[in-house]
Amino acid sequence: MKQVWSCIFLLAAMVAGGASQAAWEPPELSKEDMQRAEDMYQTYCSLCHGKDREGYAADHAPSLRSKSLLSTGLPNFVYMTIGWGRANTAMEGYSKEMGGPLSREDIGLLTVWLATVEPVEFIELQTDSVVGDAEQGAALYAENCAECHGETGQGVTAPSLGDQALLAHASDQFLRYAVVNGRDGTPMKSFSDVLSDEQIDSVVAYLRSQSSGWSPNPPKLVSPPSPEEYVLNPDGETPTFTLREDRYVPAAEVVAALEQKKRFILLDTRPASAWQRSHIPGAVPMPYYREKERAGENLPNDGTWIVAYCACPHAASDFVINNLRELGYQNTAVIDEGILRWTSMGLPVTTGTALESDH
Ligand code: HEC
Ligand code: HEC
Repeated sequence: MKQVWSCIFLLAAMVAGGASQAAWEPPELSKEDMQRAEDMYQTYCSLCHGKDREGYAADHAPSLRSKSLLSTGLPNFVYMTIGWGRANTAMEGYSKEMGGPLSREDIGLLTVWLATVEPVEFIELQTDSVVGDAEQGAALYAENCAECHGETGQGVTAPSLGDQALLAHASDQFLRYAVVNGRDGTPMKSFSDVLSDEQIDSVVAYLRSQSSGWSPNPPKLVSPPSPEEYVLNPDGETPTFTLREDRYVPAAEVVAALEQKKRFILLDTRPASAWQRSHIPGAVPMPYYREKERAGENLPNDGTWIVAYCACPHAASDFVINNLRELGYQNTAVIDEGILRWTSMGLPVTTGTALESDH
């Protein structure tokens, strides 16, 4: 059985353009595989997508059980999104190639499982491109879509429609289907009564016009720092942080502490793939999916400040800090703005590759 789906997904991976979306039958899963997939989902995904795949547990992560998504997005779109993620959003690539924890087979299993726990009828989408007036589409987008998807498609409370990975894996007809039908059970309503067919074509043509090409671009993987390197500036002074709600420290204070060579530990609580791509200098990868019993592994419990961060803004870092606090760690905090804001504020980050050449 395993071979069956890994073949399917190797094929799926090759159709990276997402142009051909044929109706699909998920292979049947054994009880053990169902359990393994459920465990993986709860460990890696439920933090944001919710225990029951309903979405919106954190970071505006979309529903993974709307019929609209599953009937048109399986298997390719879903498989590729899990594997490669979406740049500049909280959705990281989970594939080993990206430095993440999951093999292709794991991702294939998760994809088949999503189709199995929420059985839907798969829809065979047309493969032809949507033809429309992109300029008119831009105006319609600003009026009807920007409020949630962002003026430039950067995503606000809804997915980042300008993301190159999304655009590479979504066919025109997939996008059109979402606009016409909405995503049931989510804030994305159907636009079939709001916009004419022609106007919807124009909006899709506008979205497509934002596509400039995508390649997986896996980072050159490097080893994380060793436990002896965890404490930054071991001989430095203890920093003073002002915490909001006894927990959140402003990014500016963390920058100051780095510049003044204070003694503390920085934890990057995103998936390991995110740390590989780029992180705050000196940060230790401590992904939220690490087993709870190992939350304090190699971290001194002697009052040394431990400051965690994740993508926007708090879900993964809150989770890790809660575990540490339960273990009795005293001085712990979360960077209030998260790393997406940190980066957009022009604060320093380093890539895994650069780190290697520094050493
Ligand atoms: C009220 C907020 C809101 C507005 C307005 C809105 N959307 Fe959405 N849209 C969402 C949300 C939220 C989702 C994700 C739903 C889910 O699956 O959980 C979404 C999903 C989508 C998707 C699917 C993306 C994917 O990754 O699967 C497309 C395409 C889309 N919207 C296009 C549009 C277009 C085009 C417009 C304007 C005509 C629009 N939306 C207006 C909230 C909105
Ligand atoms: C830290 C939060 C977070 C975690 C953990 C996470 N996701 Fe996501 N996921 C998101 C966000 C945010 C998006 C929407 C990104 C965007 O703006 O396009 C998303 C999008 C997706 C999509 C595309 C859905 C759509 O409508 O387009 C899929 C599929 C998905 N995630 C699956 C997973 C799976 C499976 C896991 C676990 C292996 C996972 N995600 C873990 C935050 C997360």
